[in-house]
Amino acid sequence: MEQTFIMIKPDGVQRGLVGEITSTFEKKGFYLKVMVAIRMKLISVDRPFVEKHYEESSAKPFFEGLLKYITSGPVVGMVWEGNNVVATNRKIIGASNPSASDPCTLRGSFAVEIGRNVIHGSDSVESAKKEIALWFPDGTVNWQSSLRPWIYE
Ligand code: TYD
Ligand code: MG
Repeated sequence: MEQTFIMIKPDGVQRGLVGEITSTFEKKGFYLKVMVAIRMKLISVDRPFVEKHYEESSAKPFFEGLLKYITSGPVVGMVWEGNNVVATNRKIIGASNPSASDPCTLRGSFAVEIGRNVIHGSDSVESAKKEIALWFPDGTVNWQSSLRPWIYE
């Protein structure tokens, strides 16, 4: 089954949205494969890691602000699995700029500015593979939910 990488950004963690965001994906019917909370100290030491995660934005004018934002506090990285999970989670997350996000989406519900948009989700199966390998080099947990037959035909 397809997998995607999700990161709850420092603002999402500080604002206590970890449970609600995680619950949204669980209730949809996707499966959590692995989750980690990275402490502030580790991630500020690891600025090159965040540069790698966002390497395709490295030439953008907002890049320095983005690095400061993502290294400003703990984040939660997760892998979710399910049919079409990459594109579906992008829809659930909403447009990059919360002022343009549908109000039913996570960013539309919880965020105001693009530079504090609470959550990251891989934008394609290919970037998901890259991001999962970067964040979870030891792989993901292989388990099957007993609810699977109630969610998938
Ligand atoms: P991008 O990959 O375009 O958005 P998304 O997270 O929806 O895939 O950009 C990565 C992050 O960079 C985005 O979530 C927030 C930040 N960003 C800004 O701060 N300003 C901007 O103008 C853009 C386009 C992005
Ligand atoms: Mg992106």
